[in-house]
Amino acid sequence: MDATTPQPRPCWIAGRPEQGEGSITVTHPFDDTEVATVAVPSPAQVEQAIAAAAAVAKEFRRTPAHVRASALQKVARLLEERVEEIAETITAENGKPLKWAYAEVGRAANTFRFAAEEARRYVGELQRLDTDANGEGRMAIIRRQPRGPVLAVAPFNFPLNLVAHKVAPALAVGTPVIVKPASATPLSALLLGELLAETDLPEGAFSVLPVRGRDMDKLITDPRLPIISFTGSTGVGKAITEAAPGKHVLMELGSNAAAVVLPDWPDLDRAAARIATFGNYQAGQSCIAVQRVVVHRDIADEFIPKLVAAVKALKTGDPHDPEVEVGPLIDEANAKRVEEWVQEAVSLGAVLHTGGQREGATVAPTLLQDVPVQARVWHQEVFGPVLSVSVVDSVQEAFDQVNATDFGLQAGIFTRDVTVAFEAAAELEVGGVIVGDVPSYRADQMPYGGVKGSGTGREGVRSAMDDFTEERTLVLTGIAL
Ligand code: SIN
Repeated sequence: MDATTPQPRPCWIAGRPEQGEGSITVTHPFDDTEVATVAVPSPAQVEQAIAAAAAVAKEFRRTPAHVRASALQKVARLLEERVEEIAETITAENGKPLKWAYAEVGRAANTFRFAAEEARRYVGELQRLDTDANGEGRMAIIRRQPRGPVLAVAPFNFPLNLVAHKVAPALAVGTPVIVKPASATPLSALLLGELLAETDLPEGAFSVLPVRGRDMDKLITDPRLPIISFTGSTGVGKAITEAAPGKHVLMELGSNAAAVVLPDWPDLDRAAARIATFGNYQAGQSCIAVQRVVVHRDIADEFIPKLVAAVKALKTGDPHDPEVEVGPLIDEANAKRVEEWVQEAVSLGAVLHTGGQREGATVAPTLLQDVPVQARVWHQEVFGPVLSVSVVDSVQEAFDQVNATDFGLQAGIFTRDVTVAFEAAAELEVGGVIVGDVPSYRADQMPYGGVKGSGTGREGVRSAMDDFTEERTLVLTGIAL
């Protein structure tokens, strides 16, 4: 390397920026140009980060709530101050259109802000024990203590906010966190490291280690990291669980989320616009992007042409162009996979209303109808801009279709009927039901996670704090109640 070659972006070892033993090149998914290189930590640096996390765990959990809350609040503010640069970074490494990158930075700032608020009020509960004769004069104070340092394994699709969803709750409860960002998108996580380094968090409270996926074993199996919080594919999630028996593993996995449109919904234009947008936002690369659209027959003839028109209106292209709604997938290999899955559905008899073409890593927004259940675009997670419509004759048939899958993250139901809403909440095998909107709605403070093949545990700041901690009970005897 000569003096003019820029150094790789540093990784963060126990809160300090360091060069590593090699580098990863990050490329822009739209045109494959080089965006940056990133330092890959050596095995010795990985060991240093783990040892520092273990060493600081006790001191960190005893830090006053106001210290943790101030650090989290500061990160929220810094994210907002540097929003342009961070949004550009997200678009450069991930390929999502700039407007979605800005939205992600705003959400990440909120995630840190919510964590600051929760850190201040996370106190535990009081339980009276004199509900039984043996407990007269006794009460229990139930508080939550960190289970230990967290290994946060993050995906490429929200390279900032899904890192924030692991880091902010960990810091809020006072437990160290080591981030392993996705190999394709480490830059946002490294930038977050820069902001965390501006706080007064103790040394060892955080590290950001862009190790290659194949070199993750040490992090996964090391007993000093008893919690693994993973977001990503079902296959990798399963491999992690098998490699780390006995660890507390939280999994946010994939889905093939459904939106149901029922005849009582008064505004079919809005339903079509929301489904078209949220089947294709981030090129469909969200675990709660709409993938299956289940429409009641009474409105199908009116609704489906509206949906076709809304999908056709979405502009594809360079994600830096403010008019562009649908950018590239994360890489050409994934775009080829999606193209092949669409061709498979058509060859099995599905009707192609629009889309199906691919150019490089970009797939045209695609709308299929009457897709046979054995087609992968129906029963697997597409993670691409592909919607599949089916027509049903009753609410019960709609619910059965939503449930006829191995996944269960969120479902959306366009209805105004409150009895159907409650029925959906009771019947649908998902972690969350969104009434009056798409399944893609997520508020960063609410519980978020799946059932069945979509994972275990819940994110959402407060829920993750619960998952990163365990109850410790203190019984007091001889107490006046
Ligand atoms: C995900 O893809 O699971 C995250 C979706 C979101 O945070 O909006």
